[in-house]
Amino acid sequence: MHPLRVPKKLPAGPFLKWAGGKTQLLKQLQPYLHAGMKQGQVKEYCEPFLGGGAVFFHLAQKYKLKSATLYDINRELVLVYRVVQDKVDELIYALQAIAGKYSKLNEEKRKAFFYRVRKDYNRTPLRGDSFKRLESKRIARAAEMLFLNRTCYNGLFRLNSKGLFNVPFGKYANPRICNIKNLQAASRCLQVAEIRVCDFGKIKPASVRDSFVYLDPPYRPLSKTSSFNSYHHTPFNDTEQIRLAKMVKKFARAGARVLLSNSDPRNTNPKDDFFEKLYKDFQINRVRAGRLINSNGQARALINELVITNYR
Ligand SMILES: C[S@@+](CC[C@H](N)C(=O)[O-])C[C@H]1O[C@@H](n2cnc3c(N)ncnc32)[C@H](O)[C@@H]1O
Repeated sequence: MHPLRVPKKLPAGPFLKWAGGKTQLLKQLQPYLHAGMKQGQVKEYCEPFLGGGAVFFHLAQKYKLKSATLYDINRELVLVYRVVQDKVDELIYALQAIAGKYSKLNEEKRKAFFYRVRKDYNRTPLRGDSFKRLESKRIARAAEMLFLNRTCYNGLFRLNSKGLFNVPFGKYANPRICNIKNLQAASRCLQVAEIRVCDFGKIKPASVRDSFVYLDPPYRPLSKTSSFNSYHHTPFNDTEQIRLAKMVKKFARAGARVLLSNSDPRNTNPKDDFFEKLYKDFQINRVRAGRLINSNGQARALINELVITNYR
């Protein structure tokens, strides 16, 4: 196989559609980045809730990160990142093969094709240490995951109680399944990274002592029906937000510069002080997100989001 030739300087961005992706919030986050990060004095970057990685890709390129540790609890997501990191050409060939077959079909046949790939993908869900044992099949699996992500409904990644991917077909006229240049560019950014499956609670505070840590957990829902936050079979409820705040404080005590984003409960309840209590020794800033609120009567209002730091 010939390596794919791609010009060196192409910008990289997320290669997955991911619920809660931060591409739209980068501009608002920029002023709140730690000064040391901007001046290149903080050498280590850590992101415990990687998802689509919008912030990592932005920082990796803007500040030429030398070292990053990226975590997510989602094994399938981490598998794809690792394949993009070290087998990107093989991945592109596998993905192009799937995309080529798909693009020749009419809508009805595309739908059937999607469900066939989904069935195949669900035959071997990653569990326990199967992550390591999958070695020989990981490129095919990563290609299937990228295909499903691009063609499923809203690019959601959702598993049922048996750990199977259950998002339906998405009906897009022309989905961009294989963006070769972006995958190549993303792979280059990922060369500085260590990417691990990990619950945030297992990260050792001492390991982030010299780091800038950006945390983008599943957002606290603004209403019972509003945001998607079921990334994992354990719901990210208030108990999880409290467990996270304890961890964030440990990171801060260890010496990390911490920046955390979350939803602002005051969008829907001006008296809600959940985060004010939880992060009372931190700076709590509010930024205007480009999203509209979608609950009772306030349908057209722009929403605030919280940007919480342990520095000024
Ligand atoms: C809001 S998304 C992150 C989005 C990301 N910043 C982006 O730009 O796409 C939250 C991520 O946290 C992960 N997650 C959920 N619970 C977790 C936990 N306990 N530990 C680590 N990661 C977790 C989810 O799998 C999901 O990818």
